Amino acid sequence: MRLQNPLLIALLSLLMITCSSRQRIGEMNYVDVFDSPNGLSELTVEVKEGVLFYQFRYNGKEMITPSRLGMIFKDADLSEGLTLDYIAKSGVNETWTQPWGEQKEIRNYYSEARLYFTKNETEEQMNITFRVFDDGLGFRYEWPQQEKLQDFVITDETTEFNLSGDHTGWWIGAYQLNRYEHLFNETPVSEIDTVHTPFTMKTNDGTHLSIHEAALTDFASMTLANNGNNSLEVDLVPWKNGDKVRGSAPHKSPWRTIAFGESAGDLMTNYLVLNLNEPSKIEDTSWIKTGKYTGIWWDMHLGTKTWGSGENHGATTEYTKELMDFTAKHGFYGVLVEGWNTGWDGDWAENSDLFSFTESYPDFDLQEVTSYGDSLGVKLIGHHETSTGISNYEDQVDDAFDLYNQVGVEAVKTGYVGDFVEGGEWHHGQFMVRHYRDILKKAAEHKIMLNVHEPIKDTGIRRTWPNMMTREGARGQEYNAWSVDGGNPTDHTTIVPFTRGLVSPFDYTPGVFNLLLNDKPGNPNNNRVRHTLAHELALYVVIYSPLQMVSDLPKNLEARPDAFEWIKAVPTDWETTVVPIAEIGDYAVVARKDRNTENWYLGGITNEESRELEMKLDFLSPDQEYTARIWADGDDAHWESNPYPLSIRTQLVNSQTTIALELAAGGGVAIQFTPNK
Ligand code: NOJ
Repeated sequence: MRLQNPLLIALLSLLMITCSSRQRIGEMNYVDVFDSPNGLSELTVEVKEGVLFYQFRYNGKEMITPSRLGMIFKDADLSEGLTLDYIAKSGVNETWTQPWGEQKEIRNYYSEARLYFTKNETEEQMNITFRVFDDGLGFRYEWPQQEKLQDFVITDETTEFNLSGDHTGWWIGAYQLNRYEHLFNETPVSEIDTVHTPFTMKTNDGTHLSIHEAALTDFASMTLANNGNNSLEVDLVPWKNGDKVRGSAPHKSPWRTIAFGESAGDLMTNYLVLNLNEPSKIEDTSWIKTGKYTGIWWDMHLGTKTWGSGENHGATTEYTKELMDFTAKHGFYGVLVEGWNTGWDGDWAENSDLFSFTESYPDFDLQEVTSYGDSLGVKLIGHHETSTGISNYEDQVDDAFDLYNQVGVEAVKTGYVGDFVEGGEWHHGQFMVRHYRDILKKAAEHKIMLNVHEPIKDTGIRRTWPNMMTREGARGQEYNAWSVDGGNPTDHTTIVPFTRGLVSPFDYTPGVFNLLLNDKPGNPNNNRVRHTLAHELALYVVIYSPLQMVSDLPKNLEARPDAFEWIKAVPTDWETTVVPIAEIGDYAVVARKDRNTENWYLGGITNEESRELEMKLDFLSPDQEYTARIWADGDDAHWESNPYPLSIRTQLVNSQTTIALELAAGGGVAIQFTPNK
């Protein structure tokens, strides 16, 4: 039976679950087809002699060919011998509001089918819920309360994603040191081994898809292993003893998700992963703010100051106040101060147990700097680097958040430098998934916003906990300062928004104006930023983050006042986002409307190729004239030989205007559109 009629869907949505239909089956063989609300997608579910398969069509195209589902426990194999007892069908059509974000109103519109299974003979119970969206699919396993499956261990998940072809994929490998901080590879799927998600692909006919997961809160994270013949199988990141997941029924897996789009831009504005997370558990979100921040940070990455104590110590009262003056003068939200607390001396990455999260170095007075900040309207942004000393951090975190509450710190950056945790746990296994979730909840109790470095990947949990502001989880700007390969290649920023960055704020930390890093002592690996200044400006729109850094040293930012004007103007909270044109790895143009004014902002970037991109400004309001202030690459700009020239001009435009964006090699463009009255 198909759920196809939009009227029926609308009615079902109104009455929600109360109106869901429940059908008794009691078979080990069954086939059913479920359409998305507007019929653009179609899910087929088949039970064949007790084994479960699904397949999926998007926009008339077969995208997932029959693929197995199932979960294997230490004491029960729930991948075969299953009887389908019932199917319950329902649907939802609602619009919800993000308290902050890249898109204010998000539509959640899907048809749902929940299948209830019993394992033959041993009688364990398992449900699988499918949500069929016009632009993708989500499904999750659930083990209801039952006598069986108490204190269970999952040893394998048999979920497959059998692809319809050997698509082009952009990926980073799983099970590597340095967590997610790798350059993306572009290869056919047949050449991958085991990869992290989101795993973005493009088919021969230009359809884009991304396999990922939603609401990862108490499970191992999902990686994808290549089984050959275009077949990917879930590979759960294990605990150090080899268990994959530990739990006790009732328990749920995260949603396994496949988002589709006709273009790379469609993937960026596909909100399926957020929709599959639970609504906010924080009722009053008025304390959660977005904004731009400076920091005692780039100095340490350049090597001009130190985290540890001594004559070059960065986090001094005096330097913090200086930065607070600068931050207030330019109207930014706050100042991140790293290295303020004891424990950084010696090899801090190895001595995680020495960190105190409440004791300041003697030359840093927390009370004095926060009071000074208050007098200027500038916030201190706290910092907790754990270097993966999890028990040391968990023992202190309540006191540490209390202390920040006392002095009015509203946002904290956390860090987990290290390859393994507690003698062998991965950052992506269930142990750390639980830790990240628990710290986030604790932060919410203390009304503290988080910016997590070396995080678990983003699975949309910010919908449920909107104090989860931003995170790292990729190679960020810091690699330009010290990576032995000299820094991020020019095309990195044209790939990241469509892979790691999908529906996920990224604390990339833009805002380096001294692209050649003249402040860096020595510079044996020729580190530098490998794009032009206009490209650096455009990143404030292309890479979304609600807390957006302004990373360079004040003297470098103030040395280029025209460019700095853009950073001061660009917002961090958006009404809506559109992606007029983009090709992963080549170029990306993103436009966003400010949430608090009628202004639009556009960022466009290219890889090492120069190019002219023509596009219609049809996202602007019709019948409205705008002044476009354009920060573009200047004459002869080139990322390698001449990265600084900027040409700043204005132009009158409206929604019918076709604009030509001229991007230098490694270049970019940033545009502010202000309506004329
Ligand atoms: C790595 C983080 O990514 C970086 O931002 C931070 O400065 C250092 N760890 C120290 O915590």
